[in-house]
Amino acid sequence: GIVCLDDFEALARETLPHAAYEYIASGAADEHTLCWNREAWDRILLKPRVLAVDTPPDTSVELLGITLPHPILLAPAAYQRAFHPEGELAAARGAGAAGAVYVASTSTTTPIEEIAIHASGPLWHQLYIQPDRDWTKDLIQRVEAAGCRALCITVDSPVLGARDRQRRCGFTLPDGLETPHLYDAVKRRTPGKYLQRKAITWADIEWVRSLTNLPIVLKGILNPDDAEIAISAGAEAVIVSNHGGRNLDTVPATAEVLPVVAERIGGRVAILVDGGIRRGTDVLKAAALGASAVLIGRPYLYALAACGEEGVRHCVDIIRNEFEMAMALTGCANIAGISEKALW
Ligand code: FNR
Ligand code: LAC
Repeated sequence: GIVCLDDFEALARETLPHAAYEYIASGAADEHTLCWNREAWDRILLKPRVLAVDTPPDTSVELLGITLPHPILLAPAAYQRAFHPEGELAAARGAGAAGAVYVASTSTTTPIEEIAIHASGPLWHQLYIQPDRDWTKDLIQRVEAAGCRALCITVDSPVLGARDRQRRCGFTLPDGLETPHLYDAVKRRTPGKYLQRKAITWADIEWVRSLTNLPIVLKGILNPDDAEIAISAGAEAVIVSNHGGRNLDTVPATAEVLPVVAERIGGRVAILVDGGIRRGTDVLKAAALGASAVLIGRPYLYALAACGEEGVRHCVDIIRNEFEMAMALTGCANIAGISEKALW
């Protein structure tokens, strides 16, 4: 049976075509960062607290004006119908059933309007700004009309990294699947061939800011100087992310970057983090280091591949439960009560 997030990977490996499994699992180049992301959470030691709280932990959190039952979101990820026939629809339903925000990718295989019909919980949308501004503007309007609650602009991928393992396995989008939000979808069946050809800059972020009232979340911030500019550019939150070790190899683990960015931001905007979060204790460590919430990527994709909607729900439930246990054992009654005091 499935008892922890890693259990889904083994199941997915049996279920998925080899190339699709490799596409999900792989990282850039020599996969150092991919590996460090996980090791860095493991290396942080917890400091327990006994006999300190007399209530079950309250995992609820306020994020960008919405109260969520827990701080675990599903990271944007491309091509979900390549992993399960119901793809994004099953993932969004599973997320909703477990009270998790689902962040829909620009590279979905399902239009955002359809995802919105199936989603039972809050939706965010991830944006890859494309060279065609009219096209990008149109997508933003569709995202707003579909009821998404935030626009998460991914800024770490003007080009993809050296995806050696992905290239070796030769993953391409299976015939019959479309990517409705990538302009010129037909020609762009190979990951990495579709991303913006034009480098985007802070001026593009300001342009998007001028187009929408949705909160803007910048995903893929590692450098504290960039975090500073993100605030001036009008971002309401930043996601400390190295794209799951998929783009620039040998950047540090996000667990190491998070406290540095948190110090610079000093509470001015919310911070989220992703990369290698697999345990409730990782969620607690992230919160202790200054994150308001975390995102998980690969684990829910494996759960989706192996068990569809139910798998995604189960995946979030497992890590949420573990998080609650970790709070209880470190004497944290609620999210506000999680601080560096929970770390050894
Ligand atoms: C991603 N990621 C990603 N990010 C994004 O902004 N847009 C996207 O379309 C995708 N696509 C994508 C596909 C797959 C298969 C993976 C594994 C990842 C990155 C993702 O949002 C997130 O940053 C990482 O997955 C987090 O790391 P973990 O939890 O997978 O270790
Ligand atoms: C990836 C792209 C789609 O990580 O963001 O594969």
